[in-house]
Amino acid sequence: MLSWLTAGESHGEQLTGIVDGIPAHLPLDEEDINYELRRRQFGYGRGDRMSIEKDEIRITGGVRYGLTTGAPISLVLYNRDYEQWKDKVSITPTEHPSAPLTAPRPGHSDFAGAVKYNQNDLRNVIERASARETAMRTALGAIAKKLLSVFGIQIGSHVLQIGSIQTSHSFSPLEVIQACKIDPTPLRCLDREAEQKMMQAIDEAKSQGDTLGGIIEVVAINVPIGLGSFVQWYRRLDGRIAQAILSIHAIKAVGFGSQVFSSSPLMGSQFHDEIHGKDDRHIYRATNSAGGIEGGMSNGEPIVVRLMMKPLASLGQPLATIDLETGEKRQALRERSDVCAVPAAGVVAEAMVALVLADALVEKVGGDSIEEMKAHFESWRSKWDTSI
Ligand SMILES: Cc1cc2nc3c(=O)[nH]c(=O)nc-3n(C[C@H](O)[C@H](O)[C@H](O)COP(=O)(O)O)c2cc1C
Repeated sequence: MLSWLTAGESHGEQLTGIVDGIPAHLPLDEEDINYELRRRQFGYGRGDRMSIEKDEIRITGGVRYGLTTGAPISLVLYNRDYEQWKDKVSITPTEHPSAPLTAPRPGHSDFAGAVKYNQNDLRNVIERASARETAMRTALGAIAKKLLSVFGIQIGSHVLQIGSIQTSHSFSPLEVIQACKIDPTPLRCLDREAEQKMMQAIDEAKSQGDTLGGIIEVVAINVPIGLGSFVQWYRRLDGRIAQAILSIHAIKAVGFGSQVFSSSPLMGSQFHDEIHGKDDRHIYRATNSAGGIEGGMSNGEPIVVRLMMKPLASLGQPLATIDLETGEKRQALRERSDVCAVPAAGVVAEAMVALVLADALVEKVGGDSIEEMKAHFESWRSKWDTSI
């Protein structure tokens, strides 16, 4: 229903994005997108690049007089770094190309990418494999969020763990959404005491030339019942969200519900979410171990997704590698790098969840315009009231 693509390199002139399938008459302006781009750039532990790249989107198609037209929406994001990199990433052949990079960095796409695409200069892999691409995903996700907001669906994220430091208690999806509206804390962590310790851990890692990963929770509230389906493997909402999240650079695990990475598994009788009803229309659960998805479909409870980000691979103290040209032992290249990008990855994950939910919503209620979509949505939604 919705399809989206990105193109462009980390230090190239621009990133390009297209999302197709957004209905006509959705109000959209560049500030809606820039707001999310600023959220992605923020966070303790980011590298120098974040102070260079003050991301500002340009909408180049699919919007007229502030409203979507139903045509594909195209976006452009200029890389401010490009001026310094022009010669190294020139589109046209140059008389003075930069020396090829031949020592693959462990933990990155360098080695497998060079072998796969028959490249003798790793720059041709690094540039596209870089997580800079997630800036455009964030921009596309902002459009999906705007569409979802028309139907009351809101998405947010917070950090649960950095390195070995964890939050000491849990927060409700509503608390997460409310906190995201202010986004004031350096790591987007709702437990301020734990956050201070996380910042210390980042400082320590930095002083040792090391990096840290962590765990993030993404929540979506007011998601109507019945997005996704059990009838085919590729239609399951949890499968679609998991694929979208795992496609984010450095995300290595994903699961649903707050029990998912728990070290002490519960018994079935403790785990499953019993069904209660206030009246025949308002069905609710006292718990949400399922994370809002049962049988591959949203069940009306908040969707709760947890994801694990590996520690970043570019270290201040570089790892051992081999020069693919000479076979000699080398130290991996030190590109300018973050120490910890966990809060930023949370914003990217919000964008990916938004794109999947918007896709599933358009699939469920259809409609080429917002008016048509709203009419379909109301007639379907009026049957059940599960708003929190
Ligand atoms: C928002 C974001 C920022 C990142 N910044 C860095 C970075 O500065 N340095 C680094 O080594 N990896 C960074 N990464 C992760 C790398 O892009 C990733 O480790 C690499 O693509 C290989 O991971 P993969 O095997 O999951 O693709 C970042 C990831 C995200 C999502």
